[in-house]
Amino acid sequence: MKEILVIGGTGAQGSMVVKALSQSKHYSVRVLTRNANSSRAQHLAGLPNVTLMEGRQDNQKDLHRAFRGVYGAWVNTDGFSLIEKDELFYGVRAFEIARHERVQHYVWASLPYTLKNGDWDEKFHTHADSKGRIKDFILAEGQEGMKSSILTTVSYMEMLIDGVFVPKKQSDGSFVWLNPATTGKIPLIALEDVGHYSLWLFDNVSESAGLDLKIVTDYVNFEDIASTFTKVTGKKGTHKSLSLEEYLLLAEPFLDAPANWYVGTNVARDESVLSWRDNISAFWRYWDNGIDEVADMDLLDRIHPNRLKSLEEWMRRVGYNGRMKPIMKGAEDLRQAKMDSKTNSKL
Ligand SMILES: NC(=O)c1ccc[n+]([C@@H]2O[C@H](COP(=O)([O-])OP(=O)(O)OC[C@H]3O[C@@H](n4cnc5c(N)ncnc54)[C@H](OP(=O)(O)O)[C@@H]3O)[C@@H](O)[C@H]2O)c1
Repeated sequence: MKEILVIGGTGAQGSMVVKALSQSKHYSVRVLTRNANSSRAQHLAGLPNVTLMEGRQDNQKDLHRAFRGVYGAWVNTDGFSLIEKDELFYGVRAFEIARHERVQHYVWASLPYTLKNGDWDEKFHTHADSKGRIKDFILAEGQEGMKSSILTTVSYMEMLIDGVFVPKKQSDGSFVWLNPATTGKIPLIALEDVGHYSLWLFDNVSESAGLDLKIVTDYVNFEDIASTFTKVTGKKGTHKSLSLEEYLLLAEPFLDAPANWYVGTNVARDESVLSWRDNISAFWRYWDNGIDEVADMDLLDRIHPNRLKSLEEWMRRVGYNGRMKPIMKGAEDLRQAKMDSKTNSKL
């Protein structure tokens, strides 16, 4: 069996990849995690041919240990918590260290380079740009010596369950989406399918080397989301478009929050760190302007004929009901830490 290192494997996205590689029965998987005892890590350790290695994405010694001896790597650095400058440094270092350790196939889990796609207009500058810069760097290195592939995702459909797209329940039982979106169609990817596409990249290296595979399930605006919700659940769903300022006042976690606010105050921050307001504002502008690259749906159908093809299919598959449920590990860890500190202060 060929061994694949998965960085970010305990996360919402990476866990789908670990499961798909494990189920394939022709890869073994090494998952890098800061805590091998977390429930998500332990769940993965129970899957066939999966082992855990403790270490950090932002530690070069740990990266050397993690890449040593593996055939391939699937790398999703956590730009939400590392934020741009650290993600850029460790994202590039991870690639360089993988080359040093003679990894043969490297898959970089990327995001659209919003600033570049927005013709370098700073109003489209988001924390996702670090992944876009690293993608360009990796592809520019070519395919001599080590093969590389890019998996470009977009916002998860699951952000409708945990994240900025969760609706608010009203007293009459209906659900409302309150945000600055107008009519622009936003690309969304169902997490369930990320594993299949990632496995395909490893299984088809002659086609996937040098490829930037952009994966999307459906393109929808919030009118579509609300009406599909009503169709699927029978509950009333509406969308109310707010001005950006109205939205920011409602949604900002706390005044002047940094984009990586949820990792707490115990991390170094300097002027390179985007504010939460600037980051989310740029995302809403980017989504609403519809300037994202378009995915090749024919290619996606060929790679994954049984892929989820619409928001409606996804809502039915996951039993969507508009309620929040933990999906993202970072956000879940934050909620748990808050509960633990409340319990400790009562003791
Ligand atoms: N939300 C979206 O719609 C979306 C869409 C596409 C891409 N993304 C991108 O995906 C990334 C986050 O991944 P996710 O969505 O899977 O989030 P997640 O569920 O919160 O998982 C975060 C992952 O990062 C790992 N991690 C964080 N800091 C680490 C460190 N210092 N060293 C080692 N591992 C570390 C965590 O591992 P341990 O806790 O086990 O160490 C966990 O596996 C971000 O860059 C985000 O921009 C998000």
